[in-house]
Amino acid sequence: MIAAILVLLFTSLTVGAASTEATRGMVATVHPVATEAGLRVLKEGGNAIDATVAVALTLGVVDGVNSGIGGGCFMLIHRADGSLVAIDGREMAPAAATADMFVRNSKADSRLSQTGPLASGTPGALAVYEFAVEHYGKRKLSELILPAAELADKGIVLDASYARNLKGMAAEMGQFSSSRAVFFKKGRPLARGDALKQPDLAATYRSIAGQGSDWFYRGPFAQAVEQWMKRNGGILTAEDFRNYKVSLREPVLSSYRGYTIVGFPPPSSGGVHVAQMLNILEHFNLPSLGEVERLHVMAEAMKLAFADRAYWMGDPDFVKVPRGLMDRYYAGMLAGRISREHVTQVAGHGTPPDWETDVFKKHTTHFSVADADGNWVACTATINTSFGSKAVIPGTGVVMNNQMDDFSIQPGVRNYFGLIGDHANAVAPGKRPLSSMSPTLVLKNGQPIIAIGAAGGPKIISQVVLELVCLLDLGMSPAEALAQPRIHHQWSPNQLMIEKTLPGRVQVGLVRRGHKLKKLPPMGVSQVVARSPDGKGFAGAADPRAGGNAAGW
Ligand code: DON
Repeated sequence: MIAAILVLLFTSLTVGAASTEATRGMVATVHPVATEAGLRVLKEGGNAIDATVAVALTLGVVDGVNSGIGGGCFMLIHRADGSLVAIDGREMAPAAATADMFVRNSKADSRLSQTGPLASGTPGALAVYEFAVEHYGKRKLSELILPAAELADKGIVLDASYARNLKGMAAEMGQFSSSRAVFFKKGRPLARGDALKQPDLAATYRSIAGQGSDWFYRGPFAQAVEQWMKRNGGILTAEDFRNYKVSLREPVLSSYRGYTIVGFPPPSSGGVHVAQMLNILEHFNLPSLGEVERLHVMAEAMKLAFADRAYWMGDPDFVKVPRGLMDRYYAGMLAGRISREHVTQVAGHGTPPDWETDVFKKHTTHFSVADADGNWVACTATINTSFGSKAVIPGTGVVMNNQMDDFSIQPGVRNYFGLIGDHANAVAPGKRPLSSMSPTLVLKNGQPIIAIGAAGGPKIISQVVLELVCLLDLGMSPAEALAQPRIHHQWSPNQLMIEKTLPGRVQVGLVRRGHKLKKLPPMGVSQVVARSPDGKGFAGAADPRAGGNAAGW
């Protein structure tokens, strides 16, 4: 009965889905207050980069469960002059980190990589926001951060989803008095309808407004982190903060049915594997296939790509990541392994061409700066799992990330998202953990037409591919594309995860092809801004699975 109601509810979302359209600009985020903050910046003359940063800093206040300056981000920009910029603000492992830092009595202990002081890398998000605004924005960081500080002071009323999240994490967060001080009242986590006031975070934002990111990376914040870490058995130091640098990387370009796909390079695995999956899928005429066959082929492409991810992918500043993973000939070979009738057994990774010599470069440092309108930004930010390490640095309101869990903490040991990895993604000092975040831009005749990305760990990559196929192959609008039931295969474990809303006949068809289905609640949260059908304005949509919205003017 409940299942039937859910299906009906979701069907009505699918049918009723309409994208927001506007002519002068568009913002799509997971929270209406953040969308509004971004839109206000656009209306007041800021550009898309300024608006992105205002959104990010606002999300740190209203949606601190997912992101904040205690975490990292990838920002992908198409500037009006046609140049493309990928700013890597991924966390870096502390200088004292070691490959076996999470191993106790020969066994990896995921509690240590997921909760508490050892779980955090040096956060990079704020460094990116400052860098982006200084180089590509029209406004000052201080102007963009102060309204968010005000909001933190004023407080927000917890909605059902925030309260649920907090309740789910309460046992772990309750271990830290600094976290209790922010998120608990009378010894219990704040509940729906309670006010969450964050005066410490407001003060942190105001200090950054006054002193820039130096306050964070080279001043009181870095020192506060070091003190707290020392007292609690952590290894992050003020020196780690001083040494943090954003990395300007070369976006990865590939083509899909005549469109240019611009992805984020390693240490994101997103750009490479979105391109690899699309390269494989180009060998199939997707619109001509029925839904079962289309999803089957897509699941097989995901499986092949994730087998490669587990072996090859890591921080290119430390290990050789083959560019051949995106090679069209290699994709053709992988496509040849896919049967339209039955699942293929994939024992392990493939061997891309020139894997020893043709590798992603260490980061480049050149960039050009100009000011222009008409920029497109896809930015994904995270503190990793809900409330990151669960620990707030005392007196700052900043929740620290648990991004160390995105490393392979021991070969074959699954991380929070069930991913396994190998040597390429082992912990090392100063190394960036492999990510699935996939901010992606699509260009047509050199002009941007889509900015897309998602949350959801490895399901990010699958979502982006599913949605691009909906948008580019099946001609759906952004809202329609986001409303489709999702599937996800990450090679290991060997199962096809599906949303329960996937129609029964499709599920049966996939089982007939040999898939082991694992039914899950809604998977991931995506946001899209696209060109409107007339080619002049914008169409945007936020994921119906979450409470966000798209708004334009
Ligand atoms: O970088 C990654 O791949 C993960 N830390 C992303 C985490 C995430 O998407 C959490 N959201 N549900």
